[in-house]
Amino acid sequence: MKTKLIITTGAALLFAAGVLANAQRDAIVASLASQAGVSSFNADAGRAMFLGNFTGGKEATPSCTSCHTNNPQAQGRTRVGKVIEPMAVSRNPERFTDPEKVEKWFRRNCTSVLGRECTAEEKGNFLAFMISQ
Ligand code: HEC
Repeated sequence: MKTKLIITTGAALLFAAGVLANAQRDAIVASLASQAGVSSFNADAGRAMFLGNFTGGKEATPSCTSCHTNNPQAQGRTRVGKVIEPMAVSRNPERFTDPEKVEKWFRRNCTSVLGRECTAEEKGNFLAFMISQ
């Protein structure tokens, strides 16, 4: 009985955490949509940015895939070899749930790869792609 109660409670807590994470992610996407003045984002455009090669940023990092690999479900690596957990939300449900973290890394990584900050539309498209993965 006791074990069953613990398991049920654990499952309920995990479920609640998942619901909360989704709500937090939805709020970030909604905020980007209002900044961009659009009602929805385009996952294909997000995929194209993720896989694209750019020349405006640092030579060592011409693409998001330089660190995140071209498979969103796989672990990536920083330039110094530190593991980066998968970007795909299906593999990593904590992804894109903390607005400050999302903004900090978009700012840093878009500057490294594109040589400029990403627009709200580019960020939303990128999140739409990672949410679909
Ligand atoms: C130089 C290596 C590197 C490159 C290139 C890179 N990233 Fe990242 N990215 C990281 C690291 C390191 C983190 C933080 C660690 C983590 O979240 O696991 C991160 C995290 C992020 C996050 C925050 C994820 C979250 O959970 O909130 C976003 C968004 C992101 N990257 C987008 C991009 C985009 C878009 C590009 C291409 C324009 C890109 N990254 C290119 C290394 C990189």
